Amino acid sequence: MQTSSNTAPIDLSVQEVSKHYTNFTAVNRLSLDVPKGSFFSILGPSGCGKTTLLRMIAGFITPDEGDIVIGGKSMRNVAPNRRPVNMVFQHLALFPMMSVGENVGYGLARRGLTKGEISKKADAMLERVGLPGIAGKRIDQLSGGQKQRVAIARSLVLEPTLLLLDEPLGALDLKLREHMKLELKQLQNEVGTTFVYITHDQSEALVMSDRVAVMNKGQFEQVGTPQELYYHPKTAFVAGFVGNSNRLEGVLTNAAEGKTASGLTLALTPTQPASSGATSMFIRPETIALSRQETEIASFANRLPCKVETLFFDGANSTVQVKEVATGTQLHVALPHTGQHSDLVPGETVFIGIRAEHVQAFQG
Ligand SMILES: Nc1ncnc2c1ncn2[C@@H]1O[C@H](COP(=O)(O)OP(=O)(O)OP(=O)(O)O)[C@@H](O)[C@H]1O
Ligand SMILES: [Mg+2]
Repeated sequence: MQTSSNTAPIDLSVQEVSKHYTNFTAVNRLSLDVPKGSFFSILGPSGCGKTTLLRMIAGFITPDEGDIVIGGKSMRNVAPNRRPVNMVFQHLALFPMMSVGENVGYGLARRGLTKGEISKKADAMLERVGLPGIAGKRIDQLSGGQKQRVAIARSLVLEPTLLLLDEPLGALDLKLREHMKLELKQLQNEVGTTFVYITHDQSEALVMSDRVAVMNKGQFEQVGTPQELYYHPKTAFVAGFVGNSNRLEGVLTNAAEGKTASGLTLALTPTQPASSGATSMFIRPETIALSRQETEIASFANRLPCKVETLFFDGANSTVQVKEVATGTQLHVALPHTGQHSDLVPGETVFIGIRAEHVQAFQG
């Protein structure tokens, strides 16, 4: 977050770039600026155009319109191998017949460095990614996470201005992915290379990035810090895609009140200039207070008696699904991390409290 977008020079500037496939627009007049040294993620669902955008930045696909400027220079007519850019793919494309050291040194060898220089740089980079002393190993002797780090080392050793990463953790199992996303962030911090990272995993984007662009149908819906996207989504798509939320469809009955299709009336803080019409309302599970005593939620604008339906016990991430008594509206509520209420049983009556400012409404 400390990478101040105000002072750092812009390493990558995408300017009104489009890519059309016959009758389909994969990337639609998209612009973005990435300051030097920052970790920028592009987050969006499958098919929204992420890989197309990244491949245009790398030079493998030519944009139909617009310009891409890297390190202050237009990349028009600049071949991929002449761009100060390296790309790490989901499927790593390491050379299985070469040792780890040869893999990492491959690009340096192509640049004509001596054997001594190559092995010195490769060893130093392997150490940097937490794999010291494995230059002599074969690729098939490594775990999935180690291979991923070798692939990153192979790119970083070339000292690119920009490192482009296309879902590099996608092939790893969940536990390793959780671990690698922390490591990648630390690594980026240490080396200071500008990272442009694409993913459909919102948690990866939130944890690692200085800034995130949420992409939908070839365009950016919102660009901001993880906190801005999480707490102040500007569109229903962003509210629904970033983090978990209860999503309730309905209508705005006036500027500060919505009524769900199920008939539940909710006081809300109008975040959009709207006073009537169709709306999607979002409430995050962790903003909902839950109690066995009605008096404890007395200060909440929305106070709803509910029946417990299902408890999803998952340690600190436990939630409970409840059903509002009068309308049958179902809501997911996060349980306190202390373990309080982890003994709830189906059928039990509870009371939930929702503050007006925690109901985010979007028109349409
Ligand atoms: N060569 C092509 N010809 C026609 N359509 C294409 C071509 N390449 C991609 N597309 C289409 O463009 C859209 C964007 O594809 P892209 O690979 O950029 O998506 P993505 O966001 O990377 O998705 P994923 O998360 O699944 O990797 C998709 O609908 C895809 O079918
Ligand atoms: Mg892709």
